[in-house]
Amino acid sequence: MTTSTTVLDARGLTKTFDGRTVLHEVDLQVRDGELVAVMGPSGSGKSTLLYTVSGMDTLTSGTVSFAGQDLGSLSQKQLARLRLTTMGFVFQHVHLLKNLCLLDNVVLPAYLAGLAPREELNRRAAGLMERMGVADLATRDVSEASGGQLQRIGICRALMNEPSIVLGDEPTGALDSAAAGEVLDILGELNAEGTTVVLVTHDPTVAARADRVLYMVDGRIVADRQQGRYTGADREGRHADVTAWLTEQDRRRTEAPLGSVV
Ligand SMILES: Nc1ncnc2c1ncn2[C@@H]1O[C@H](COP(=O)(O)OP(=O)(O)O)[C@@H](O)[C@H]1O
Ligand SMILES: [Mg+2]
Repeated sequence: MTTSTTVLDARGLTKTFDGRTVLHEVDLQVRDGELVAVMGPSGSGKSTLLYTVSGMDTLTSGTVSFAGQDLGSLSQKQLARLRLTTMGFVFQHVHLLKNLCLLDNVVLPAYLAGLAPREELNRRAAGLMERMGVADLATRDVSEASGGQLQRIGICRALMNEPSIVLGDEPTGALDSAAAGEVLDILGELNAEGTTVVLVTHDPTVAARADRVLYMVDGRIVADRQQGRYTGADREGRHADVTAWLTEQDRRRTEAPLGSVV
């Protein structure tokens, strides 16, 4: 891919909760088709960054432009529409309704939003479930699927609107390594097809797949590692390199004098 349009352009993002600043004038540009991993210790602001750039949470100050649209200029309704039609979200834990079969869970948000007629949505959901290897679970309910299968169902639901960007908050965080690997392969495939992917993660395996790894400390992006496109070649070397880099970031963070900006 040769395009390098900025799809997400966040400037000076500041977020304060109860007088405490948890994002400090963060700038983040994500290019179309990039796969970005956001890492850093617990409480460093990774989730808050994800939620503010996607308009799920409000900013204290700063601007976010998504696909050329300034989120701050949109009404709540327009913002909800933009999220619904262009963004897909995957969380650590999938929240599914227990009284619906899994196919209906995949379809429901798109149906409620009136994205397309029910029949078409059913077909789309069935196609996605086929692709994610969970087609046989369509008529089952939540209690009949494993954690890895549920996460794949959650990805199907996130893809119903054919999003141009997928945002994940530790999407593999609750999975064993085999299931995590499968979910990561799926996200990697989507990215290879052109979907921009931003993943908050603690997992170096996820980071090894990314084009770029950001490291956050105390509400700031303190390091931005460009590591080139993942091709599948030299998987171990890439994993070792990013692990060493992460160790270095951890070391800098813990050795920095209290209150200093790294
Ligand atoms: N809704 C909220 N109300 C108050 N504080 C919050 C809220 N959400 C997050 N925080 C605080 O903001 C900081 C960053 O949180 P978060 O973005 O969840 O970090 P991370 O995802 O890196 O673990 C933490 O100190 C957290 O306690
Ligand atoms: Mg978090």
